[in-house]
Amino acid sequence: MPVCRRTVLRSALGLSVIPLAGFTTDLRRSPVHADPFTLGVASGEPTPDGVVLWTRLAPRPLTADGSGGMPSRSVDVEWELASDERFARVEQRGVVAATPQWGHSVHIETTGLRAGAEYFYRFRAQGFLSPVGRTRTAPQPDSLAPMTMCFASCSNYEQGWFTAYRRLAEEDSDLVLHLGDYLYETVAGGAFRAHAGSEAASLATYRQRYAQYKTDPDLQAAHAAAPWLVVFDDHELDDNWAGSVPEQPQPDFRTRRAAALRAYYENMPLRSTALPRGTDMTLFRRVGWGALATFHMLDTRGYRTDQVCGDAYRSDCPERADPAGSLLGPHQKQWLLNGFRQSQARWDLIGQQVFFSQIDLTPGAARGFNPDAWDGYAADRDQVTAGLLNSAVRNAVVLTGDVHSHWAAEVHERPGDVSSRRAATELVTTSISSGGDGSDGRADIDAILPENPHIRYFSNRRGYVRTRITADALRADFREVPFVTRPGAPVHTGATFVVPDRVPRLL
Ligand SMILES: [Fe+2]
Repeated sequence: MPVCRRTVLRSALGLSVIPLAGFTTDLRRSPVHADPFTLGVASGEPTPDGVVLWTRLAPRPLTADGSGGMPSRSVDVEWELASDERFARVEQRGVVAATPQWGHSVHIETTGLRAGAEYFYRFRAQGFLSPVGRTRTAPQPDSLAPMTMCFASCSNYEQGWFTAYRRLAEEDSDLVLHLGDYLYETVAGGAFRAHAGSEAASLATYRQRYAQYKTDPDLQAAHAAAPWLVVFDDHELDDNWAGSVPEQPQPDFRTRRAAALRAYYENMPLRSTALPRGTDMTLFRRVGWGALATFHMLDTRGYRTDQVCGDAYRSDCPERADPAGSLLGPHQKQWLLNGFRQSQARWDLIGQQVFFSQIDLTPGAARGFNPDAWDGYAADRDQVTAGLLNSAVRNAVVLTGDVHSHWAAEVHERPGDVSSRRAATELVTTSISSGGDGSDGRADIDAILPENPHIRYFSNRRGYVRTRITADALRADFREVPFVTRPGAPVHTGATFVVPDRVPRLL
């Protein structure tokens, strides 16, 4: 890349130029500090010419004040991006201030990179070098080159080891999606590892909770292996929150929401377009991957109306179909439908949190649904399904988390009516660790599957989903680990489905 462009870029980002000798591994300046890189590194939001590089300084990650042991002043962080793992071919470098206002996190939005290329990055601060991360840019806009994408959700530190993150890190992914419940705000007291501090409800306690999670070496490995696209669900703030409404009444939910969103931004490799302003944060966005795929990343928490039927699991009430209820909010819904209309990708993948397909959870003639999922917002779901059928979308796949079990479903024009047209497929990833080891089956689920013929797979093991996306088909491997209550589990594929081009079926 020409030097002039780089200089322009640096000044645009407010970065100063490092002297030529610059970024060396010479640590003769004996450090007076402890290693600030205890939280690892991450990258995200790849475009054909750039990617976000992230780290956060925290020499003592678990301090109760959330500072991570950092002083209340800014600290310079040098960064370096190379095309080789040994940093013999450094292509860009710079320095940026990590400020106490943003929890000593840094978000470097690189530009001017080569499309479809692999890069390595690292940081240096206070005489210490960070671990090295691998990342990559998205391919050229006309590319139909195949990609490997893994997606995950629901990692509860108290309920299991993050072995599934380690196995995910070993998959050689081009891209990783995290669909929410990256952490849990509560303190339940785990049998073998416990959340530090009190329930996360303030900026200090959310920062402390993120820091504790990010000390996990398996999670660090997963971040260091590939760029991520992240969206939150409920536990990054409060169980089953809905827009401005918490699950249980609490004195100052607005302040809590602002703190949670701020800590989320600080700890994720997000662009400045997602910078929170008070209680607001624009997380929904589209990310293109050549001509092969478009990822529509949704926020199904921040704009939703309150849950109907008293938010009672396995319930039913007429309000489920009330068009006054909305999961996406009017603005995000229009944005999504416009995205469908303008789609030019071979595959449109909708990265979001809660179960999209209808699922009757009550065996027998009575019906019972989960009002926290799309079943509680059926009018919005009908609009999205119709939007898929009446648009330029060629192949739609809904990607889901939340439910701590693997599922696969075919999405029909009339929910649950397998004689109606198919509009999409849905792949639901299990948790990384939430729920503990799991089981080989669940009698309550076996009892309802015959009443939900559009549902094609269920597994109650922990893991993630690996997809291989080509111009001709999307293959989904439901990856499962046999245990999480002790470390070191191997991974295997519990089931594989293929979705052929132009055929929204699970084969
Ligand atoms: Fe969860």
